[in-house]
Amino acid sequence: MVHPNDIVFDGWDISSLNLAEAMRRAEVLDWPLQEQLWPHLEKMKPRPSIYIPEFIAANQEERADNVLRGSMAEQVEQIRRDIRDFRESSGVDKVIVLWTANTERFCDVMPGLNDTADNLLRAIERGLEVSPSTLFAVASILEGCAYINGSPQNTFVPGAVELAAQRRVFICGDDFKSGQTKLKSVLVDFLVGAGLKTKSIVSYNHLGNNDGKNLSAPQQFRSKEISKSNVVDDTVQANPVLYGPQDKPDHCVVIKYVPYVGDSKRALDEYTSEIMMGGTNTIVIHNTCEDSLLASPIILDLAILTELCQRVTFCTEADPEFQGFHSVLSIVAFLCKAPLVPEGTPVVNALFRQRSCIENILRACLGLPPQNHMLLEHKMQRPVPSPKRSCPGGAACPLAPKKAPAAAHLNGHPC
Ligand SMILES: NC(=O)c1ccc[n+]([C@@H]2O[C@H](COP(=O)([O-])OP(=O)(O)OC[C@H]3O[C@@H](n4cnc5c(N)ncnc54)[C@H](O)[C@@H]3O)[C@@H](O)[C@H]2O)c1
Repeated sequence: MVHPNDIVFDGWDISSLNLAEAMRRAEVLDWPLQEQLWPHLEKMKPRPSIYIPEFIAANQEERADNVLRGSMAEQVEQIRRDIRDFRESSGVDKVIVLWTANTERFCDVMPGLNDTADNLLRAIERGLEVSPSTLFAVASILEGCAYINGSPQNTFVPGAVELAAQRRVFICGDDFKSGQTKLKSVLVDFLVGAGLKTKSIVSYNHLGNNDGKNLSAPQQFRSKEISKSNVVDDTVQANPVLYGPQDKPDHCVVIKYVPYVGDSKRALDEYTSEIMMGGTNTIVIHNTCEDSLLASPIILDLAILTELCQRVTFCTEADPEFQGFHSVLSIVAFLCKAPLVPEGTPVVNALFRQRSCIENILRACLGLPPQNHMLLEHKMQRPVPSPKRSCPGGAACPLAPKKAPAAAHLNGHPC
């Protein structure tokens, strides 16, 4: 994996503050830490960005003093030039673009507008309804750069997904899974898995950072509400013993802006489940966390995993030609609140299933078998036979590596 210290950062913001001043304005880091970071960050100035006021809350307008001018197509061209300029001036091997700007309202998805790659490119030429995050996605895809959406809105309209597939560029998202939702995707999996029928989930948040200010506007809140609301669906649908086809828990999400608490977000959740003989079980959680400090490592992990996936190819017995992952990179779902998956494929929200997916893919990259947690060797009547030192197929096995890693031998079949 790329070492996080080897990542070079650049970016855009509609606010012109250099990153040191932005750090002071955000009031997230303690002052002694800010003093140490100041000389490194004050040299970093964001590039002017695409600002279309109707997509984010009106209360963000006062920050917008660093914006591109010109037609929509010209602005996309400028973003593409910025990417090329960064690639050349920094000397990096690869560029990955990640949207961590404000939550936008949902974009209309309409035939003729953004349903195909061609229509989306035409809509940009004509300056029609295309959100800034989608414009960035298009610019990145056209530059061959993977694009990650860390916010909840529907950046990946069908035309953007098609464009990514055509250009074989990874896209992934949506919305960082950092706090309340991460816990929810563990807790509901546990409750339902334990046979407790969760009937109601009520999640309330208040926060006072700029994200909270933007989400205090109804359309932007709606994007977040949608992103947060589907997180238990797969767990519920996977258990037809507890839940009938139309049966799902009541799920309510509230977010309030309270400036005083700043970045120290409060999340209060109540889970009510039916248990035996008409009883109920209620779990209440109060979680206080530094919102930005939960999200920042996720940003790094998303970029590092996406980069790694760009270097993985594999083949199967049925299809011996090597291939990479689908351009909709759903492996990173572990880090996303509303995982984007290829059309028609299952969405997995349960955190440990998502984690196991990444773990087993990484094990496969090392030639190790998947971890299934059976530990059958410790559950047998007779003593465990000593591990095989070589593949039963021997050198004749087409999958046998020239020199199999020792760890693989210990696990049995090295191929
Ligand atoms: N724990 C978390 O912090 C967390 C978790 C999940 C998702 N998110 C999402 O990540 C996003 C960022 O969160 P944040 O707390 O850093 O918000 P923030 O408001 O502190 O930062 C967003 C930045 O984006 C800039 N911006 C707005 N529109 C822009 C545009 N068109 N181009 C370039 N820059 C633009 C703003 O000026 C601001 O500096 C939000 O959508 C949020 O919902 C955050």
